[in-house]
Amino acid sequence: MCTLTHLFENNQRWSTALQKQDPEFFLKLSKLQTPRYLWIGCSDSRVPANEVTGLLPGELFVHRNVGNVVVPTDLNCLSVIQYAVDVLKVKDIIVCGHYGCGGVRAAWDGARLGLIDNWLRHIQDVVQEHEVQFKQIQDDSKGFERLCELNVIEQALNVCQTTIVKDAWGRGEPLTVHAWIYDLRDGLLKDLGLCVSRAVDAIAVYRKIVQ
Ligand code: CO
Repeated sequence: MCTLTHLFENNQRWSTALQKQDPEFFLKLSKLQTPRYLWIGCSDSRVPANEVTGLLPGELFVHRNVGNVVVPTDLNCLSVIQYAVDVLKVKDIIVCGHYGCGGVRAAWDGARLGLIDNWLRHIQDVVQEHEVQFKQIQDDSKGFERLCELNVIEQALNVCQTTIVKDAWGRGEPLTVHAWIYDLRDGLLKDLGLCVSRAVDAIAVYRKIVQ
């Protein structure tokens, strides 16, 4: 038999524990999901979206990729955003990166890892965009930390600039885009100060926090 028995055992315990608190929990969820939040984060196994935010199944719609990158030609990510905004009517989109990100590190070092190098090019664009700022940072680890932050801010701005979010704002729908970063060393989230609820605010807020 080719099964990961211990994972099925874990699953059994998890399901039992949740149903102990609320016998109808899975039944209610199976009929409808009404998450308030969309999380766009890194695939890193150390940053599990639901756990770090203390949210239950049904409360968080999630998209994760290496380096929490949002590219306007990525049909996968765009479809998640469109479904979340237009169908599920989420109120908040959280782009969350993390310090010590392997994808950001590889982009920072210009490492050659394979196909993924092409994906990480988008993070190298962030370095180029903020070249002046990075030249002023002498310490390599500080530069890397700053890139982890600036990458989140850039990707959050990309979310603000999708046609999906702009159209939702145009219709007057309540929708806020956030940029957060998670610290692997203490398990804490930090708000990077980008919190945009109107198209007209996006660039001004962005400029204020990227300096
Ligand atoms: Co990462």
